Amino acid sequence: MAESDTIPKMSARGVNVFYGEKQAIQDVSIDVDLDNVTAFIGPSGCGKSTFLRTLNRMNDTVASARVEGKITLDGEDIYGANMDVVQLRARVGMVFQKPNPFPKTIYENVAYGPRIHGLASGKADLDQIVEKSLRRAGLWDEVKDRLNDSGTALSGGQQQRLCIARAIAVDPEVILMDEPCSALDPIATAKIEELILELRGNYAIVIVTHNMQQAARVSQRTAFFHLGRMVEQGPTTEIFTNPREERTKDYITGRYG
Ligand SMILES: Nc1ncnc2c1ncn2[C@@H]1O[C@H](COP(=O)(O)OP(=O)(O)O)[C@@H](O)[C@H]1O
Ligand SMILES: [Mg+2]
Repeated sequence: MAESDTIPKMSARGVNVFYGEKQAIQDVSIDVDLDNVTAFIGPSGCGKSTFLRTLNRMNDTVASARVEGKITLDGEDIYGANMDVVQLRARVGMVFQKPNPFPKTIYENVAYGPRIHGLASGKADLDQIVEKSLRRAGLWDEVKDRLNDSGTALSGGQQQRLCIARAIAVDPEVILMDEPCSALDPIATAKIEELILELRGNYAIVIVTHNMQQAARVSQRTAFFHLGRMVEQGPTTEIFTNPREERTKDYITGRYG
């Protein structure tokens, strides 16, 4: 990795995660920066979701989960005593595998976060945040005339873009996406991928995918996970064309998955 005096947006060092007695993540260290989309790839059950969730403390919601090691956001320990977890999850937003809009209107889905975080100075300001977020998520034109319809009435692909708009609305620094297209058809998937490419640079983006073509299309850096370990990471093109590790080679050539 190039020497640099800028701190990475997020940095993980020596991270272990346990579910009860069972260790799901072993000694993972990785940096996430603003300029690149980072893909986490690897076979099912290797710990991609578990590790992703350590980055905004979603594992806190799993009673048996225990996280060791150090994870920082702008150099600050996110597991430190001073870290406000609600604030952290606004700064490090998450988009899940299955679109999960609130059973509320499209408008409310996006307005909710800015309202509880006090980001809008009034109704007009909130309207603007909602519009801007929906535009950024590539959904505005499709929903601008039906903002009071339920978010759950949208198609799956639209719901996922609504969830991205909801994450964007609180002005996050990092967006974590856990297989965001796995429940979507190819056209909706292509839209999300386009969106990821557009969002790149505005947010640090981490995407978990088991679709290697997708990783190749949307990411500039890739980390390969296997059996709870991060086996290797590097520029996406290098990981796909010239992996250093045999296990990575086996995976990308489809020997297991
Ligand atoms: N809430 C949980 N409780 C216990 N074990 C879990 C839990 N979530 C995941 N695991 C286990 O941790 C390992 C990694 O799972 P996961 O992070 O979901 O992998 P991936 O996202 O790569 O498919 C698996 O063995 C899985 O069974
Ligand atoms: Mg997973």
